[in-house]
Amino acid sequence: PSQRQALKAEAAALLKSHNAVLVAHYYVDGDLQDLALETGGIVSDSLEMARFGRDHAAQTLVVAGVRFMGESAKILSPEKRVLMPDLDATCSLDLGCPADEFAAFCDAHPERKVVVYANTSAAVKARADWMVTSSCALEIVADLHARGEKILWAPDRHLGRYIQEQTGADMLMWNGACIVHDEFKGLELELLREQHPGAMILVHPESPKSVVEMADVVGSTSALIKAVVEGQAQEYIVATDNGILHRMRQLAPGKTLIEAPTAGNSATCKSCAHCPWMAMNGLQNLIDCLRSGQGEITVDEPTRVKALGCIARMLDFTA
Ligand code: 13P
Ligand code: SF4
Repeated sequence: PSQRQALKAEAAALLKSHNAVLVAHYYVDGDLQDLALETGGIVSDSLEMARFGRDHAAQTLVVAGVRFMGESAKILSPEKRVLMPDLDATCSLDLGCPADEFAAFCDAHPERKVVVYANTSAAVKARADWMVTSSCALEIVADLHARGEKILWAPDRHLGRYIQEQTGADMLMWNGACIVHDEFKGLELELLREQHPGAMILVHPESPKSVVEMADVVGSTSALIKAVVEGQAQEYIVATDNGILHRMRQLAPGKTLIEAPTAGNSATCKSCAHCPWMAMNGLQNLIDCLRSGQGEITVDEPTRVKALGCIARMLDFTA
């Protein structure tokens, strides 16, 4: 067997012997996505990752993704051991929203419901009334708006603007962005669409307004995969992290997938749209974390208890 296959087999055996289950995001390495599915785990968007980890009986959850995903798993299942292949795998949205500055922002606007995106630290979630992911943000904000609530939103400005436009809610926004999606370019996308007039354009809502405006489908990673599987078109232009193409190709093998253009792409960069922190997950460090027990996520108990409220509220809302 190839070295990759050997590593996969070793990882599968370790997952089994440690009574562990692998919870992977669509942006991580394809081998890890396959391993998760082949060993009874899951590859999904961040909402389903949280739900699956909470509901699975395994005593150890191995989260292949970025740190906030591991923290959410630990917050929901404090009795489980949560391991990550690399604890330094973070997210620009999380980094751009420090808990102390965020608390001061909330303190200045006590009349607003605090709604935070999943891509934040446990300490930021501890300050929030609601956590949302891209697959339920619209519904939850629309519901709050219908009940007359004003909202304080953090941290992704593009997702926030999109939700604000869709719902008409009164939203005060934090100014954060995803370094991957922020790079997609509307003008270049327009040129690409001219070359592929029949293509459906699929966009994650962390992308800039000019890109979202051209979308046939705007949605979470799961929603974009569903759009490829169910869509009538032959060609799809995909404006999200290109790690997602692995699962799209598996589920829709006959369809043509085209990466949406980023600032430096074409001649200079064919694969700009890949999250450097998602890319820190691999078979070898997954094996290492299971062998050594290093890479364990911890969340201090007072923070965990406070953060649990906003995550549990979202899971109940979407149940
Ligand atoms: P999803 O919730 O759509 O999977 O997105 C998570 C993420 O990090 C997007 O960049
Ligand atoms: Fe964060 Fe963007 Fe990476 Fe998702 S793709 S984890 S939002 S930096």
